[in-house]
Amino acid sequence: MVKTEYITVQDAITKGSGEVSLHGWVHRERGSKKLKFIVLRDSSEIIQCILKRDDFDEKTWDSIDKIQVEASVELTGTIAKDERAPTGYELKVSKFTLVGESHEFPIQKDASKEHLADHRHLHLRSRKMTAILKIRSTIFGAIDQYFRGVGFYEYHSPTLQAVQCEGGSDLFDVDYFGKKGVFLAQTWQLYAEPAVFALEKIYTIAPSFRAEKSKTSRHLTEYWHAEMEMAWSNFDDIIGHGEALLKHVVAAVLAKHNKELEILGRDPAKLQPTVDKPFVRMTYTEALKILKEKCDMEIEWGKDLRTIEEDKLSKLYDVPIICTHYPKKVKAFYMMEDPDDPRTVQGVDFIGTEGYGELIGGSHREHDIEKVKAALIEDGEDPSEYEFYLDTRRYGTVPHGGFGMGVERIISWICGLETIKDAIPFPRTMERYKP
Ligand code: 4AD
Ligand code: MG
Repeated sequence: MVKTEYITVQDAITKGSGEVSLHGWVHRERGSKKLKFIVLRDSSEIIQCILKRDDFDEKTWDSIDKIQVEASVELTGTIAKDERAPTGYELKVSKFTLVGESHEFPIQKDASKEHLADHRHLHLRSRKMTAILKIRSTIFGAIDQYFRGVGFYEYHSPTLQAVQCEGGSDLFDVDYFGKKGVFLAQTWQLYAEPAVFALEKIYTIAPSFRAEKSKTSRHLTEYWHAEMEMAWSNFDDIIGHGEALLKHVVAAVLAKHNKELEILGRDPAKLQPTVDKPFVRMTYTEALKILKEKCDMEIEWGKDLRTIEEDKLSKLYDVPIICTHYPKKVKAFYMMEDPDDPRTVQGVDFIGTEGYGELIGGSHREHDIEKVKAALIEDGEDPSEYEFYLDTRRYGTVPHGGFGMGVERIISWICGLETIKDAIPFPRTMERYKP
């Protein structure tokens, strides 16, 4: 028997006429005794299909008549332009095969957020989630492409780690054969710094874990973290890569995903300035001044910027903000003290437009071993647990630095999502770890 050649719905639409065979799922259906309309969905597009009772035998018509949403089918027919159809074309079906039945698909049109989350495995099939997942795929590709294009090696750090890096309060403990002191990675950083003495320029995209107790639209307990670390760099090199990476990623999405952005109701014009214009740069101290003058918000010097302050700032500009030189005591132990103002560090946050918050966090690394030890003690850590890390400062240390970018933060921002939970297939939060 000759194998039927199936093409995608999009390819069929592009072809525009003649006979085609398609396979996919029933997105919508309606009909009468004599006529059935099926909107067929595959990964590429949807298309209206029309089936006439007279064209099928009794048994086939029976299964057409009973077809329900999300059943899988194979269809052959002739395609033609039809302005009234949802994507401008219609398939007149001559051959129908039911592949997999579906009965009372649990997701109805106006399902609540809870219901959708409980049925996430089925909700992935929605046009909205499909559009997000396509953009997500492009973003992962663009990150790899950027770093490989500028000579970085892909490198991998352990997920099971024995030290904290971003503060002990949101670590996930692992029961490691009954032993304590093993955690899920918050970041690759302490296991990446040793490798720049071998590879010099490295990057990764890997899951990070934070036992965040906050229920916000920006926090996941498991997220994908794109991180880079480079030797022989200064603070400006790190910032430069952050800006170039964001521009590259946004440009890649804009070049390919007009259709998906439209499905998501995201106006590409909101993202274009990120590609076209330099980002806005300010120090933490300048940020406080701007907040006071333009937003009537008075913040005491030394306090970290909160979500509300980042949001107010971000709404003043149409490009991300590069905020640098935070007070030492609000930032991590490994950040380089600024030689011009030792109260501050050479740390940077990239703040997204429109209130999307921190997209990237990075720094130049402190190379003075005594300062690193003192900062660890200040954090309540025992420096002897960090001996392997401190060796990076003992044996041929060089200026180096890096950053981490939350990939779901980027997806959420680019897609204009209401919550970061939709930026990942199966979101993990304080309240949800199923399905
Ligand atoms: O600012 P963070 O904590 O920095 C680090 O982990 C550094 N060690 C990175 C480095 O220099 N290699 O986290 C980096 C980024 C944040 O800017 C944010 O985008 C994202 O990770 N992020 C989260 N994304 C989703 N859910 C969470 N709970 C997140 N916490 C941080
Ligand atoms: Mg941060």
